[in-house]
Amino acid sequence: MRVFVAGSFNVDHVWRVAALPPPGATLAGQYASGPGGKGFNQAIAARRTGAETAFVCALGPDGGARMARELAAADGLVLHAQSSDAPTGTAGIFVDADGRNCIVIGAGANAALEPGFIASALAGLGEGDVLLAQLESPLPAVAAALDAARAAGATAILNPAPANVAIDRALLDRAEVLTPNETEFAALLARHVGERIDAEAVAGLDQARLHALCRDLLPDGSVVVTLGASGCFVSHPEARQRGDAAGHYRIGAEPAQVVDTTGAGDAFNGALAASLALRPALAFGEHVRFANRYAARSTEHAGAALAMPHLPAA
Ligand code: RIB
Ligand code: NA
Repeated sequence: MRVFVAGSFNVDHVWRVAALPPPGATLAGQYASGPGGKGFNQAIAARRTGAETAFVCALGPDGGARMARELAAADGLVLHAQSSDAPTGTAGIFVDADGRNCIVIGAGANAALEPGFIASALAGLGEGDVLLAQLESPLPAVAAALDAARAAGATAILNPAPANVAIDRALLDRAEVLTPNETEFAALLARHVGERIDAEAVAGLDQARLHALCRDLLPDGSVVVTLGASGCFVSHPEARQRGDAAGHYRIGAEPAQVVDTTGAGDAFNGALAASLALRPALAFGEHVRFANRYAARSTEHAGAALAMPHLPAA
């Protein structure tokens, strides 16, 4: 049972600053660069959780691509990289003293990832495997990845990050498991359910209301809303509880000595996918608890892909 991740690789350029800059400000910060991109971070997390993992992406003709290849080899990640003339993806990231961030993406080669390349790279998907996709790739590529998973009888997880208002109903419905954070959840509700709820208010909604919203958003799939310091909320369709005793429930946050939250959502998604692939007999909630703990540990280290904790192979 393996994990396949289709998505982005970025070279992250990170500045640690006392406070995130307002418009017009010039500040001094501590600079570092390292590997990132939601797809790559999630693939590294799945791999370091102990799952055999393959990563499908597009890379440019440059040093960023060399970085991706070297790191994939070092971690034992199987890499399927489409070659593009565009530069390898980049991200500019500010991280403040509380570990909060803001990010600007230069998609570069990630924007060239083709559905046909995805389909051939995912030809090896089988029943019991888990496919994980995000929204830093063109939407037709994301759709191709989810389709390949469903056709193979693999579990299709869509992490709808970053929030993207262009995502349509047909794409959403391809997901068996959807894992938005509060911001992404609020954006999806506004677009697909006609509900305007502030992202900051999501964690405070009562469970019955959250469950109803999740059901309206994805009637046939499970929804896991990650709520940062408030943990997460799980909602299943009535007919399919995936081994859970309850159709919906909350899981509390895991305490952490936060240094840098960059990639915490990616840690969660990668670990969730790996746990589902490695321990198929467990109830879904156990996978979510595991992912929640793994994500908390990832925030205790600076950086994105390199902050993913190593667990002993299962
Ligand atoms: O989720 C964190 C990631 O978002 C960073 O690594 C950055 O590359 C952006 O894609
Ligand atoms: Na981190």
